[in-house]
Amino acid sequence: MIPAVYALRRGGYIDSRNPVIGFARSHKSDDEFRTQMNEAIGKYSRFKGTPDGVLEDFKSDLYYQIGDYSDPETFQTLGQRLSEIEARHHTGGACLFYLATPPGSFEPILRNLKLSGLVDEEGATGRFRRVIVEKPIGSDRASARHLNDQIHNSFTEKQVFRIDHYLGKETVQNILAFRFGNGIFEPLWNRRYIDHVQMTVAESIGVGSRAGYFDKSGITRDMLQSHILQLLTLVAMEPPIAIRGEAIRDEKVKVLRAIRPYSRTDAIRNVVRAQYLAGLVDGAGAPGYREEDGIPADSETETFVALKLEIDNWRWSGVPFYIRTGKRLAKRVTQVNIVFHRPPLAFFEEFGCEAPEPNVLGLRIQPEESISMSFVSKRPGPSFQIDPVRMDFHYRTAFGKQSPEAYERLILDAILGESGLFAREDEVDLSWKIVDPIIESWSGDSPAPLNFYAAGEWGPEEARALLERSSRKWLRL
Ligand code: BG6
Repeated sequence: MIPAVYALRRGGYIDSRNPVIGFARSHKSDDEFRTQMNEAIGKYSRFKGTPDGVLEDFKSDLYYQIGDYSDPETFQTLGQRLSEIEARHHTGGACLFYLATPPGSFEPILRNLKLSGLVDEEGATGRFRRVIVEKPIGSDRASARHLNDQIHNSFTEKQVFRIDHYLGKETVQNILAFRFGNGIFEPLWNRRYIDHVQMTVAESIGVGSRAGYFDKSGITRDMLQSHILQLLTLVAMEPPIAIRGEAIRDEKVKVLRAIRPYSRTDAIRNVVRAQYLAGLVDGAGAPGYREEDGIPADSETETFVALKLEIDNWRWSGVPFYIRTGKRLAKRVTQVNIVFHRPPLAFFEEFGCEAPEPNVLGLRIQPEESISMSFVSKRPGPSFQIDPVRMDFHYRTAFGKQSPEAYERLILDAILGESGLFAREDEVDLSWKIVDPIIESWSGDSPAPLNFYAAGEWGPEEARALLERSSRKWLRL
């Protein structure tokens, strides 16, 4: 988070009126905290290696306060420290609390912030008090509701900024620009022209050092409930009345409401879960999930999930959204493919060509940020043979500059009070409503089977079969 705040400072978006106070349990002086943050910037900042005067100024605006999250007195001390620093930096009293802690610590922190009067806003003076929380927001619908209730005991929804870092990615925001800033795509963006949508969020990394968290969570809670459903809402939503705040969130919520809820039988039929076995990733041997450090040898946690979702609204009725996400897949790539209907007649068969592949609009979210459109073209020569070709737009060549990190945009928006790129309470609640029956179908009587795939593959055979059932296939990425 600090490297992102530093990037904002470098970009001139914030200044010395935006000091940062680190608050945690370990003993540290301001200077030790500054040294630690300097290292973090050196390691993670996109500006690393470029010396600049801004860094020195930025560092001197960092402070540290030791505290015990469950001790109300600590928060009194924090309050005094805040007042001193606010006066020194002329902040006007505006303050953003960033809870970069495990969710288990939210409750005492939120309670004590409230008890010590730190969350009170003064509208007239512009003194705002906001809170940023990160995923996971709960591990199911009930626990998410509980957590949101705890948040609301201290902050109103307007003061809450739930980060989903996918919404901070330029390419994800560009879905809105692409759909609503152009005249030619939106008329085609519906069941009349679109056959189905494929969404892939693939990672080649394994569980890494996060075994403890991941084995309890699994990929469905980790990626589907948050990032992927957020991405889906942007692809599927109706045009909002404005590209901002509540207008965007209202439309996203409508999509989540329209996603057909699964019964246990539906979930078993339409969802494939799997776990990676040992294999080869990028030419190097990779262990199986159950052999990873910290993972129980009999773990049933899914590292891959593929599913079909249906959106029961006027625009999307009958257009399946196929989703897959997993760890230790063939490569790191996030892409949304909009697959259009095939032409009604196969004119070119008489020239020895197979029926053309459908047109595909590919929104490559990462790593290469791009948009492509595939179509067929006449092969040069005397006959009417056709070949598939592609038009590509690349961010890097078009704009020639590095995209900011997701957190930069999100932290800045939270400072500005712009909520459009944050998950509202009802979005979180509805995402769990979709995800809960899926996870429940994996336990109890006759649970859906756990499948397996070798690390470095695109998932299990069953994920292919999911599309094959309706004569479709995952497109190559
Ligand atoms: C996080 C998940 O939210 O997103 C991780 O907890 C995952 O498991 C990460 O690796 C992926 O983010 P990105 O930006 O690298 O696609």
